[in-house]
Amino acid sequence: MKNIQSLIANMTLEEKAALCTGASAWTTTPIERLGVPEMIVSDGPHGVRRVPDVHAMAMESLPATCFPTASCLASTWDVDLIHKMGIALAEECITHNVDVLLGPGANMKRSPLGGRNFEYFSEDPYLAGEMAASFINGVQSKGVGTSLKHYAANNQEFQRFSISAEMDERTLREIYLTAFEKAVKQAQPWTVMCSYNKVNGTFASEHHYLLNEILKDEWGFEGLVVSDWGAVRDRVAALKGGLDWEMPGPQERRVKAVVEAVRSGELDEAVLNESVRRILNIVFKAKETPKTGTFDIDAHHELAHHIASEGMVLLKNNGLLPLKGQHHIAVIGRAAENAHFQGGGSSHIHPTKVAVPFKELQAQASNSELTYAEGYPTDRSFRQDMIDQAVSLARSADVAVLYIALPTFKESEGYDRTDLDLTEQQVALIKAVSKVQPNTVVVLNNGAPVAMNEWIDGVAAVLEGWMMGQAGGIAIADVLSGKVNPSGKLAETFPIKLSDTPSHINWPGGAGAVSYGEGLFIGYRYYDAKEMPVLFPFGHGLSYTTFAYSNAKVSAKTFKDTDSLTVTVDVTNTGEFTGKEIVQVYVHDHKSGLVRPQKELKGFAKVELKPGETKSVSIKLDFRAFAYYHPEYKQWITEDGDFDILVAASAADIRQTLTVTLQSTLSLPCILDKESTVREWLADPRGKAVIGALYTEIETQSRKLFGGADERYGNENAMGMDIMDMMNDMPLVSVLMFQQGALPMPAEEMVAGLLMQAHKME
Ligand code: BGC
Repeated sequence: MKNIQSLIANMTLEEKAALCTGASAWTTTPIERLGVPEMIVSDGPHGVRRVPDVHAMAMESLPATCFPTASCLASTWDVDLIHKMGIALAEECITHNVDVLLGPGANMKRSPLGGRNFEYFSEDPYLAGEMAASFINGVQSKGVGTSLKHYAANNQEFQRFSISAEMDERTLREIYLTAFEKAVKQAQPWTVMCSYNKVNGTFASEHHYLLNEILKDEWGFEGLVVSDWGAVRDRVAALKGGLDWEMPGPQERRVKAVVEAVRSGELDEAVLNESVRRILNIVFKAKETPKTGTFDIDAHHELAHHIASEGMVLLKNNGLLPLKGQHHIAVIGRAAENAHFQGGGSSHIHPTKVAVPFKELQAQASNSELTYAEGYPTDRSFRQDMIDQAVSLARSADVAVLYIALPTFKESEGYDRTDLDLTEQQVALIKAVSKVQPNTVVVLNNGAPVAMNEWIDGVAAVLEGWMMGQAGGIAIADVLSGKVNPSGKLAETFPIKLSDTPSHINWPGGAGAVSYGEGLFIGYRYYDAKEMPVLFPFGHGLSYTTFAYSNAKVSAKTFKDTDSLTVTVDVTNTGEFTGKEIVQVYVHDHKSGLVRPQKELKGFAKVELKPGETKSVSIKLDFRAFAYYHPEYKQWITEDGDFDILVAASAADIRQTLTVTLQSTLSLPCILDKESTVREWLADPRGKAVIGALYTEIETQSRKLFGGADERYGNENAMGMDIMDMMNDMPLVSVLMFQQGALPMPAEEMVAGLLMQAHKME
């Protein structure tokens, strides 16, 4: 590694400014004079999208393995598998001379309508964070960098270059930043990509609080921050805000602006030097990995196949699956012949090869006769003739398998979905086929939930095949035939209808802003709070076998927040197929100072079991499993009290519950101020000690003022209310104002004195 500091000392101001902006669409600016090489980046996330000439703008890219997209990856709940995929991606980067892969995306799925949801992992920050960390660790273990994106709150495509995502601090911390925080702390990505949008009014590319204070200072991020492509408006403001590297380049005017800003004193050169240092660190680190060799196309195709088979989710099955050698299978739907395996936009991969679902099913159902009807067109037209043809095929068959892919005009980067529906033709097709053929299986290829209420009752089985990557066609055949026992579980809730979704009345915003009005309550957190039925809950997924949970234990019933708590449970395969179960641990807080979701995922494990076999599964819970972010303390806090540990097969299928008692070791500062309510004074031990005697007096006086029970008012007081219930939620100062005559000094002075006493007790 070069001596970065002496290099910086030898750089001209112009060289420094130029380094902080790209030289082309995919490269850093090299400085030949000083031996600073160029670094090459490429999209990402689920494959390497390397354009042949990195210095030119091009849409075509070199062949690379297209792995399943993030919705499918997260549904595997298998961090080791994602790590393996990361290693394979790194091998392809090395082959294609790519230093940094632009992924993974760790944004939350706030609404199922988000156009880029297929590129994101989950509605749950814990799961998304674990997946992202594993992905990054896998890629970087081979000396190739990653770019954790899009930081932060890029949850929609509508006005994605400009909209301001508006939310409170706690929502930001607990929901929208947690996955990034986990990934940064557990995996140290070489780069973090800021998003296009604004967060609470400030562009993410200029966001001092998000980039400098939280990412770099608080979480200890050591790499460089790169802009999303074209996300920088004001280069100087972005440098001040913590954005190290602007992309794409070249941007001569921007570079000049930086030079001038330093010369005029508007920009401290130390700020520029810090960005230069971060960039040089990564550039030289990247060059430590020689970019030579080839990758094993077949082995990576096989890995993509394996991941797809682990991520597919069997949503419904009345027993028809696995197929049992039925004589005639009617295969319907153009996705059987034209695999739909990835999404549109910057992540679009030129695959090395593509498995054709029809052929793969034919290969595995070799004793069956397969016939085919296209079923629906590529465009938006409605074709009754295609439905009629499919129906006549299905009628004469023993089973109908419908391969239904959500078309790109309904789902892609760049635009959000406007509804949760399949096309009108696809819905009509499923209904018509299942009417004549009760043994109908629907296989879906899509990146995010679709509504099914119009047709689900009429079909025998539904397999969610996701955007399954180039080898997904084999995985579908594996699951249908029973060669693979499905084990994927949903990383996001499937709602019944659009109007049920948490952000519905605040989506997608307008006039430059979108309010995250549902706050903490996205995904299952919302459906729990509303006690609302869903189509398929978070964590749901069927298997061809069954699992029993028993003997759940915790390492301690009472514990301190500085200790970790281990939950163990025995899982038994009670059916006839070898299978994998995903055990989920949620935590429920009995009582908290601020409102909390009813339960939150804090751990999981995937375990393989033969029929009759039992394994003990252990899951560790740490401080953060019990903590929440308190906006007034500006930190994560724990509170003394009882918590339920829910050991579950899905968010709606809790198998065992244990109760534990936490003792907080935190000594929190006194945050009482002149507007604090009586209840807040009483909740703080120092406040309570200070106003204890006074409170008794206030109560006596207040009850006197409002009068006692009087039979003239039906045994209530003259106001017909419990005065203390109201008083407790008033600022102490306001309550004292009502007692003015009885007080030795003005209420404000009295509160000021009490505050001094309380703060002194810290
Ligand atoms: C996307 C990024 C991508 C970049 C480079 C942007 O439009 O938002 O995800 O990495 O382009 O292609």
